[in-house]
Parts: sequence; C-alpha cells; structure tokens
Amino acid sequence: MELCVIGAGYVGLVTAACFAQMGNRVVCLERDHVRLARLRQGQCPIYEPGLAALLQEGRRSGLLSFTEDWEQALARAEVVFIAVGTPSQEDGSADLQHVLAVAESLGRQLPRPCLVVNKSTSPVGTVERIAAQIGSGLRERAVAFAVEVASNPEFLKEGSAVEDFMRPDRIILGSDSPVARERLQRLYAPFVRNRERVLCMSPRAAEFSKYAANAFLASKISFINELAGLCAQLEVDIEQVRRGIGSDPRIGSDFIYAGCGYGGSCFPKDVRALIHTAEQQGYQPTILRAVQARNAQQKTLLFKALEQHFGGFLRERRVAVWGLAFKPGTDDVREAPSLVLLEALLDAGVRVQACDPAALASVAALYAQAVSSGQLTLVEDPYTCAEGADALVLVTEWKQFRQPDFRHIRGLMRMPVLFDGRNIYDPSELSSLGYLYHGIGRPVVGHCKVTAA
Ligand SMILES: NC(=O)c1ccc[n+]([C@@H]2O[C@H](COP(=O)([O-])OP(=O)(O)OC[C@H]3O[C@@H](n4cnc5c(N)ncnc54)[C@H](O)[C@@H]3O)[C@@H](O)[C@H]2O)c1
Repeated sequence: MELCVIGAGYVGLVTAACFAQMGNRVVCLERDHVRLARLRQGQCPIYEPGLAALLQEGRRSGLLSFTEDWEQALARAEVVFIAVGTPSQEDGSADLQHVLAVAESLGRQLPRPCLVVNKSTSPVGTVERIAAQIGSGLRERAVAFAVEVASNPEFLKEGSAVEDFMRPDRIILGSDSPVARERLQRLYAPFVRNRERVLCMSPRAAEFSKYAANAFLASKISFINELAGLCAQLEVDIEQVRRGIGSDPRIGSDFIYAGCGYGGSCFPKDVRALIHTAEQQGYQPTILRAVQARNAQQKTLLFKALEQHFGGFLRERRVAVWGLAFKPGTDDVREAPSLVLLEALLDAGVRVQACDPAALASVAALYAQAVSSGQLTLVEDPYTCAEGADALVLVTEWKQFRQPDFRHIRGLMRMPVLFDGRNIYDPSELSSLGYLYHGIGRPVVGHCKVTAA
C-alpha cells in the first residue's frame, strides 16, 4: 500500500519503518528540520533498539523516504497516519493543536480520497474533530471526494517499540466503516499472522481504550508503591509481598514492581488527560487522582531518603546517579523520576555524577548550566560515575547496572551507601559487602557511619 506517516517521533518513525519493512511504500512527513536532515542522511534521531537497522533497510529498498513537503507526502497516499505529539496543557487536558493542525493541512492538501488514521493518543471525540476539520478544508476547495477517519491507538513501548510493533498484543481499529476496517486489517495482516489480534470497535471506544490501558498500568504501579510505603513502616520487604501476590493469575506479575515512580511521555500525561475528561463530564475520578498523587510523592522518595541519611546536610556531598532515562532501553527523559531527583540534588548544592547508556545528551541539554559549572558531571561509565561518591542511587534499571562489581565499587566510593530506586539488588548480599542498603519499601540493611562532607 502507499502510506504517509505524519510525525517522525517514537511512534511515527517506528510505524513508518515497520510498514516499509513489510513492503509498503511509506513517505514520512516531519516538520522539524534538524530531525529531518538527520533522517535524510540515514541517521536514526532517537535511541530505540532495532530501529536504526530498519531505517537503513527502508533507505536501501527505497520504500521509506522522508520529506517536509505536503504535496510530495500525499501524492500517492492511500492511508495517512497521524503520529504527532499530544502533550499536556496546563489544565491537564491533551493539547490537540498538532493533531488538528495536521487535519487542517490534510483538508487543504489531500489530492484524492484516502483513509486518515489517528495514532496519536487523543481524547474521545477526536476522530470526529479531525473529520470535521478535514471536511471543512475539502468543502472550501469544493472538491467532490470524501475522506474517512479512523482511530488506531498505538500500544508500543519505548525501549521495545520495534518488537512491539512487529508482534503486537492487539491492534485496535476504531471505525464504523467496513471499508476502512477492511483496509486496515489488510495492512496489519502481516503483523498478526499467527493469531487474530485485531479488535474492531467504534472510534470513541478505541480512543478511550488507549487511556484506559495507560491509566490501568499507572494504577498498578501506584498501588504497589502505596503498599511499599506501608511495608517500609512495618519492616516488611515489598519484594517478598510482590512475589506473594504476583503468583495469583488474577493479579499477575507484571507492573507490580515498587520503585521511584513512573515517568515518560505517556503515563503521566494520559492520566492527567483522563482526569480532565472526567472532570469535564462532572464525574469524580477518585482513583485516578490518587494514582497521580502517589506517583508525585514517589518521585520525591529518593531525595528524601538521601536527605534523611545525611541528617539534612547535603551541600557539597557527592552523589552518583545510575540511570536517567525514564526507563531502560530509551533516551527519553520526559517526566523521568531522575529529573525530580537531579533537580532536588542540584538545588541542595550536591555535586552530582550521573551516567546513562542513552540519555546523557537529553539531560545535558536540560541542565546545561549545571554541567558547565561542574556541579553536574555526566559520564558514560558506571564505575567512573561512582568514584568518590558519598552515595550511589540507582534510578533506571538498565541491564548494564544489574550485576556490577560491587566489591570494586566499594573501593571507589567515599562511603558505601546505596539507594536502590528499583529494588533490583539483594540487600543481604550488599550488606555483606559492607554497604548500607536502602530500597523502596524494604528494611534498611547494613551500617555506614556518615562522615563529614
Ligand atoms: N512514545 C510512546 O511510547 C508512545 C506510545 C504510544 C502512543 N504514543 C502517542 O503517540 C503520539 C506521538 O508520540 P511520540 O512519542 O512519537 O511523540 P514525539 O514528540 O516523539 O514525536 C512527534 C513528532 O511529530 C512531529 N510533528 C508535530 N507536528 C507536526 C506536523 N504538523 N507535521 C509534521 N510533523 C509534526 C514532531 O516534530 C515530532 O518529531 C502521542 O500522542 C503519544 O501519546 C506514544
């Protein structure tokens, strides 16, 4: 099929590359000139496992191209995917300006009938708004054809986006039109060959399903984090409780890991947008508000624990931070728990040494002043990062941090104190190596005398 994908971000780029890999001709439209130039030079502008290779292949086969020119992007398109950002507005609602701007351009530019598919996470009723916007453009131009609009929310996860797109759990098609459904089913057929995973529903149900999924996952995280706080007070290890409840198939073992909070470009903004939608309807989103409040508190826990450990005197301390991306496998730091920690440490006059396998450039851009003053040092190697530190904090559980040589690290650090923001280490093993271990919702293990800064 001839496809156009609008937006070359995490979703658009993966969508375009994967559809091209399956033999479709895809033109991806991107308005950011820097990003576009990199894509045209064959570079992958984001860190996403497997994506660079797919982009190369799309380039070699000639099936994938990039442009900023609407005419070129739409010239042959049978299906147009919208994959632009829907960030939070100040009141928490989803900002649809990019989606609607695309709809306006489509109304002005579409040269012939096609199917428009919204992949951007958007509130219930957005498909209708896109259709109205395109319709008014077509009417102004007095063209005789109609354009159908469908919702096809995206469920890929950053860090495994290519894998998720290629082997989806489910594909949700929100359209009441049999023609549109059939066309999308045909397009997705190669991705779901061994099992029927395509779910057809109304556009509104599709739009709502995406928010429901993210809100549910965020709720699971905030639920276990809430219990972790209580565990900490009762001298119970939440990790044992997690295993105890996760073996029940009604609960399941995924997404019940206690930690320093969820971040990223989706969960926080989608929970906010759903709360806003509920409030607009005069409906009380009691659980969602609690999910959000718990997560905000959770993101401050590591700093509070550090503050308590140092008796409130943090100035001139050296703290090493492992992991800055909002989760492993990505360079994305949007709403990452690491940023809340960095901000608080820098404000408190702490000298921070941080490392991350993919997100250093994103963080350097956000904290340029702290980097240039020397208060924040960004390094690639976790061992260099730990040198001279009064405490080490694990924020993002990249594989690289899972089994470090803690015996060696103990010799590098000024004080062997570890704050495990993802509960990935064994407290008894660390205490036997001489560390003082703090987890999330776990008893503190080991001893370490705090010496002057
Ligand atoms: N990132 C994820 O893991 C993920 C997963 C599922 C769904 N989503 C949803 O998908 C949507 C896109 O998310 P993302 O993370 O890919 O966003 P992103 O910010 O990484 O990318 C959006 C891209 O669209 C481009 N863009 C914006 N307006 C444009 C226009 N008018 N013309 C051409 N290009 C334009 C931007 O320059 C940017 O490159 C959001 O609604 C998000 O909630 C994201």
